[in-house]
Amino acid sequence: MHVVPVVTEQQFEEALALRIAVFVDEQGVDPDSERDDIDDDPRTLHALCYADTGALLGVGRLVAPGTDTAHGAGAGLGAMSPDVPHIGRVAVGIEGRGAGAGTALMAFLEAEALARFGEEGAVRVELSAQDQAMPFYARLGYETFGEGYLDEGIGHHDAFKIVRAPHTP
Ligand SMILES: CC(C)(COP(=O)(O)OP(=O)(O)OC[C@H]1O[C@@H](n2cnc3c(N)ncnc32)[C@H](O)[C@@H]1OP(=O)(O)O)[C@@H](O)C(=O)NCCC(=O)NCCS
Repeated sequence: MHVVPVVTEQQFEEALALRIAVFVDEQGVDPDSERDDIDDDPRTLHALCYADTGALLGVGRLVAPGTDTAHGAGAGLGAMSPDVPHIGRVAVGIEGRGAGAGTALMAFLEAEALARFGEEGAVRVELSAQDQAMPFYARLGYETFGEGYLDEGIGHHDAFKIVRAPHTP
């Protein structure tokens, strides 16, 4: 599998279609909340993970520090700082789960966060994690902070990780 940034409108539509299948059709999120202004912010990076067959496995996005989160799902509900990059909308199609696509997407988005916003080889990344997905994020090194909350009726906690440049010998 491999992860690439979205660069074409067609790729963006592919990403949205998968998000709708996972968040709207599977989890019952309101489609008007799922698609938001952050998607169209030029500083938002969308990523796609493809299988070697070319099938789309999963998607995610990196939101730049200072992006207006007033319209984002989870906005104003938790305690995430607007001053750091956020990772969000991480979704792997139901048939592709458990094969490493989510991990590959997170590695790509974290590396981009470090490259774009890191200082002295480190960057704090935050995300709003569905409670059911928190074991996935915890395994990647994320720690929860603040109180839990409901977003779209789904239990969430905010979580953070200090992403550091890999040690180079
Ligand atoms: C959460 C999600 C993105 C994980 O993607 P994935 O491709 O299945 O994850 P990976 O295959 O990289 O899994 C890595 C590890 O996390 C574990 N894991 C993944 N999702 C998990 C979950 N929901 N609960 C507990 N463990 C989970 C896997 O079992 C695996 O552990 P292992 O290597 O010890 O077996 C995917 O399940 C998904 O899209 N779920 C629906 C949408 C969602 O919840 N998105 C997150 C919103 S905050």
